[in-house]
Amino acid sequence: MNVMKSFREVLSNARNVLILTGSGISAESGIPTFRGAGGFWRRYQAQNLATPEAFAANPSLVWEFYEYRRRVANAAKPNKAHEAIANFQQHASGKGSKVTIVTQNIDELHQRAGAKDVIELHGSLYKTRCTVCHEVTTNTNIPICPALEGKGSPDPNIMVSDISKDDLPKCQTENCKGLLRPHIVWFGENLNDHVLQQAYNAVENCDACLVIGTSSIVYPAAMFAPQVAKRGVPVAEFNLETTPATRHFTYHFQGPCTITVTEALEL
Ligand SMILES: NC(=O)c1ccc[n+]([C@@H]2O[C@H](COP(=O)([O-])OP(=O)(O)OC[C@H]3O[C@@H](n4cnc5c(N)ncnc54)[C@H](O)[C@@H]3O)[C@@H](O)[C@H]2O)c1
Ligand SMILES: [Zn+2]
Repeated sequence: MNVMKSFREVLSNARNVLILTGSGISAESGIPTFRGAGGFWRRYQAQNLATPEAFAANPSLVWEFYEYRRRVANAAKPNKAHEAIANFQQHASGKGSKVTIVTQNIDELHQRAGAKDVIELHGSLYKTRCTVCHEVTTNTNIPICPALEGKGSPDPNIMVSDISKDDLPKCQTENCKGLLRPHIVWFGENLNDHVLQQAYNAVENCDACLVIGTSSIVYPAAMFAPQVAKRGVPVAEFNLETTPATRHFTYHFQGPCTITVTEALEL
């Protein structure tokens, strides 16, 4: 039988579907992945700026990087894969089955496509956290503060970033005024326990799984789909290429996910 047809049959019998996504699903919306050619900002590798060390060394530089990323995400639109997932989830809930979306992305494109209860493993570009009182706040303003107006250009010839700490985003909680940081899990940081528990529940309870646009090298997210596969549950990988996890999975659909995921989830 045709492989796609076989996977679609698996899906039609599943009651509890887990969909894991990584930055590859947003690539066709124009948001670069970290490991592709777009993984640079100015002369920095994006991964080196998404760290607590980079923020401690130069919060101005890291805030410029995130101002840029917020602008890029804002200008982007959910693509056919995000839409297919949201429609599939809605349709499933209508017939009494469940679709849980667990994403490593911070761009909120799943939610903008209409997906519900998205588990954001790595936080969101649209949330901040106070470095002093730890209050988490939603913030969709562009620029996020007056001093970041027109800042964040990725031009590799820009060498300095020296916005004073006093002018960077500040906590609005009474009397705090602490420096805000993006509410994002940076490289080297731990995931939130509650979020992680929700993800584990989905990993343990699903009876079919899709893993879309992730390199499967960032832990702990990288081990979720292999764990599902270990229980004997069918897992389908959607990627432009094979990954270190491909060998664990029943299905591998190679190609741009706007095509492959749409085909798999078409109602
Ligand atoms: N959009 C975002 O929110 C965003 C963007 C960049 C990085 N990040 C963060 O960076 C980390 C990197 O991990 P990751 O595994 O998500 O990304 P990654 O950059 O390591 O890997 C992206 C994967 O997507 C695949 N891919 C690229 N375009 C694709 C397409 N059109 N269709 C199917 N597959 C495609 C690539 O082959 C690669 O395996 C994550 O923690 C995430 O939080 C998020
Ligand atoms: Zn505060």
